[in-house]
Amino acid sequence: MRLVSTDHAKPHSCLAKTIYDGSGRILLAKGTQLTQHYLKRLQELGISSVYVEDGFVTSIEIDDVVSEQTRIQVVQTTKEALLKIKAGGSPESRKIRQAVDDIIDEILVSKETLVHLTDIRSMRDHTFGHCANVCILSLLTGLAMGYDQLKLKELGTGALLHDVGKAMVSDHIVNSNKIFTADEYRLIQKHVEFGFEILRKTDNISIVVAHVAWQHHERYNGHGYPRKLAGAEILEFARVVAVADVYDALSTDRPYRDRLLPHEVVEIIRNSMGSDFDPDIAKEFIRNIAPFPVGSIVQLSSGFKGVVLSVRRDFPTRPHVRLLYDNKGQPVTGEHTVDLMKELTVFVTNVIRE
Ligand SMILES: [Fe+2]
Repeated sequence: MRLVSTDHAKPHSCLAKTIYDGSGRILLAKGTQLTQHYLKRLQELGISSVYVEDGFVTSIEIDDVVSEQTRIQVVQTTKEALLKIKAGGSPESRKIRQAVDDIIDEILVSKETLVHLTDIRSMRDHTFGHCANVCILSLLTGLAMGYDQLKLKELGTGALLHDVGKAMVSDHIVNSNKIFTADEYRLIQKHVEFGFEILRKTDNISIVVAHVAWQHHERYNGHGYPRKLAGAEILEFARVVAVADVYDALSTDRPYRDRLLPHEVVEIIRNSMGSDFDPDIAKEFIRNIAPFPVGSIVQLSSGFKGVVLSVRRDFPTRPHVRLLYDNKGQPVTGEHTVDLMKELTVFVTNVIRE
């Protein structure tokens, strides 16, 4: 399968991954033949890319760090928590803890797996999917940093709840289709204080978790908000969540821009080490991301184009590639692959956005 934009997906191509809404309801099931009507509807929902089966490579299966079922469950738990806060209640800490435990159990099993999949979600459900993803990405980083179960649980809870304060900001701003005005931006920034206030009063949620919500927009160089904390003044968990938050935000479609590709986001994070992000934490974070995920179409320095078949965790920039087009743009017939771990003079020069 491969990820293609809904602008470029051809009608009649077959959906390779089910698309869900924030309540876990199926919007379009795996195996569905895309029609012009479906593609238009997906674009209206703000979904700009989908996974499709293609004629070249049908046998690629991508292992995800967390199963689809758990991801849906976690997204739902997050949605329930935010709706409860909106209604004047507090999040149910038991359910939140269960969701975090489920993710920890799964990532402990899939330790060697890199993050390959882009989560496809509609704009309307952006916040819930974002919280779930930030939780998964933060936990992978915590694991790479050698955290024990206790620390992972606290980090995961802080990550899952980092944006709960958004429940106190009006929906039309949170889900706005436009770039914020200065006033809207000031209001949205308040979500960190709202989150702290909500969580510090929630039963069975530690004060550290409340501080993660308060501090996740602080930046390592002191240029963040709300208090301009810097370096070690920022809680380590909040420094982890800050990287995961930015990674996920840039990797998903927003109304005003398309998602960036993984290698582009990795590059941005690499360039922000020591300024926005704690360099040691950002380094551990990047080690979990496949810059050229399985299924992406890459341009090679040899002039050939191909699809990524597999990636080694210890050398993520040297994938195993099945060749699709030669250096004159002619289709490559038969099964020809190049393993960049062996062909050391060839490298990936670009990822082709489809
Ligand atoms: Fe936030």
